Amino acid sequence: MSARTQDMTTIRQERRTDAAAREQLLDTAYGAVRFSKPSERLRRGRQPADGLSFVAVEDGRLVGTLRLWPVTAGAGRPAVLLGPLAVHPDCRKRGIGAALVKRALRAARNNGHRAVLLVGDVSYYGRFGFSAEKTSQLRLPGLSEAHRLLGLEVTQGALDGARGSIGLPVPRVPALAPLVEAIAHRARRMVPQAA
Ligand SMILES: CC(C)(COP(=O)(O)OP(=O)(O)OC[C@H]1O[C@@H](n2cnc3c(N)ncnc32)[C@H](O)[C@@H]1OP(=O)(O)O)[C@@H](O)C(=O)NCCC(=O)NCCS
Repeated sequence: MSARTQDMTTIRQERRTDAAAREQLLDTAYGAVRFSKPSERLRRGRQPADGLSFVAVEDGRLVGTLRLWPVTAGAGRPAVLLGPLAVHPDCRKRGIGAALVKRALRAARNNGHRAVLLVGDVSYYGRFGFSAEKTSQLRLPGLSEAHRLLGLEVTQGALDGARGSIGLPVPRVPALAPLVEAIAHRARRMVPQAA
């Protein structure tokens, strides 16, 4: 599915073939510092959340990018981490950034995600409903500017009492469940039972 912003920019799901242009745009927007951002440590070598990578395209040229990533907002509280967001310098202040954020938030809601976190300026992200109200007890390892950690509840109350480190979700490996149960069963049989 794709959608057009007012000046015929198309916002659509990212495709595999967008990778090189996306990386080039991120280099242009952030420079090499992008690789040392604390949030990058949660993203490196991992996949974005299913269906939550978007690009903005104009006349076949990729001019905007935004992806969301599965994380935990403290132990056992699933969330998605928004970013990086970038729009090509030639195309800024035309609503492309806002269109990407709104599209991604709508998709996150439709995909059942309950909370979105990001590191960014409240002066920009506040307009979409992000604030530091419920993120003050959360930490992102390596982030010194704690006030830039912002959250948005997709489901009301999803960040109530959130505290602890923002981390990676434990991968679900259903195929291992029978094996774990078989080992546990064997172990139980080996323990001498009380008379
Ligand atoms: C931030 C960014 C994605 C915005 O893209 P965009 O397509 O220009 O965004 P929009 O058109 O939706 O909004 C533009 C408005 O946001 C403002 N804005 C941009 N960055 C801002 C910031 N960090 N804080 C406050 N306002 C900001 C612009 O001044 C503009 O204001 P105006 O509408 O009053 O003219 C783009 O500037 C960018 O790629 N920047 C470099 C990467 C970056 O810094 N990203 C993180 C931002 S915290």
